[in-house]
Amino acid sequence: MKLSLGSALVGLAVAQASTVKYSAVTGYFLQDEDSTDASTFDYTAENFGLINRTYPADKHNKKHLTQWERFYHQVSRFNEESPKHVEYKVLFLGRHGEGWHNAAETYYGTPAWNCYWAELDGNSTATWADASLTENGISQALTANAFWQKEINEQRIHTPDHYYVSPLTRTLQTANLTFTGLDLPKGSAIFKPTIKELFREGISIHTCDHRRSRSYIHEMFPSWPIEKGFSEEDELWNGVLAETSGAQDIRSATALGQVFFGSSSKKESFVSITSHSGEISSILRVLGHRTFKLNTGAVIPVLVRAEKTDKKATATSVPWTAEPHCTEPPVSSVSACVCPSSAAPVTTPLATGF
Ligand SMILES: *[C@@H]1O[C@H](CO)[C@@H](O)[C@H](O)[C@H]1NC(C)=O
Ligand SMILES: *[C@@H]1O[C@H](CO)[C@@H](O)[C@H](O)[C@H]1NC(C)=O
Ligand SMILES: *[C@@H]1O[C@H](CO)[C@@H](O)[C@H](O)[C@H]1NC(C)=O
Repeated sequence: MKLSLGSALVGLAVAQASTVKYSAVTGYFLQDEDSTDASTFDYTAENFGLINRTYPADKHNKKHLTQWERFYHQVSRFNEESPKHVEYKVLFLGRHGEGWHNAAETYYGTPAWNCYWAELDGNSTATWADASLTENGISQALTANAFWQKEINEQRIHTPDHYYVSPLTRTLQTANLTFTGLDLPKGSAIFKPTIKELFREGISIHTCDHRRSRSYIHEMFPSWPIEKGFSEEDELWNGVLAETSGAQDIRSATALGQVFFGSSSKKESFVSITSHSGEISSILRVLGHRTFKLNTGAVIPVLVRAEKTDKKATATSVPWTAEPHCTEPPVSSVSACVCPSSAAPVTTPLATGF
């Protein structure tokens, strides 16, 4: 039953997605260069990766602007000079700080985590269904907060015109800690992120991908807008079927389609999206950006060019797949999932998700 829901969503997604063509514009950020190693890249040590260079638009500027001020002017210029069906945005893609599910994957090892532990709500000392941030995760989000303030003070960076956040607890907490209490520049958008279903993590059978109810989320952050049509219960996670990366990319393209080409969109070019490792990887694929794995709590900006095309969309549905798992802790120190006594993996959920 849930499969048809998933397929329906996916089919709809294709219809909207293929009418916009996205590309990552390179030459502005270190993270776009093949020579930058994602595993050691520290966005706080590198001015968010912004390359120190001149821009064509510099000649229109006053003197003594910072690199971020000049870059912002360049992006504005791109938007002014491009036709109506082309739009430029800078997406600040932020991965949540470390959650209890990240700690547990490290603790149990990835094969055992995937084929057994991740299907439980937690162990006797930790809960990872819709995981919260660990102390480490909280401090990573506070690092992002301090860094944004430094960029505001020293670079006079243009802060996001729009904020979006995935509905999972770890991303809600991360966005909150990252942007609450900042001394924002005069005239900038206030921080009230839109909670958006389609920016959630890839939906696997893991309980950490099962979101809480709309009421729960609303109670946690009563003043944050929740997008229209957001269902009370999570209708996508069922603990049996997993979204494939193809289906996820269609979803990501749909989500991006709702971020670009809004009213006054060209004037609101800086956008923050607080999301997840798998979902950010999917967004980067849709943008044609190179693979760039973010560490927990990391943030990277990407300059994106979006162009509306006349191409008629064709609706296709990408099916999800059933993911088998063990019913008891698997045999340890193996690189793949091996259930104890060769018991066959099953597809019956072990837990509800919380
Ligand atoms: C950026 O490059 C210019 C020209 O090479 C140099 O003068 C300036 O000090 C550099 N700024 C930073 C922050 O590295
Ligand atoms: C439960 O998992 C956490 C990791 O999330 C780990 O630190 C802790 O030691 C585990 N507890 C037990 C009793 O194994
Ligand atoms: C949001 O962040 C503020 C400031 O860091 C903190 O005091 C508050 O507890 C957070 N709210 C929630 C619901 O996590």
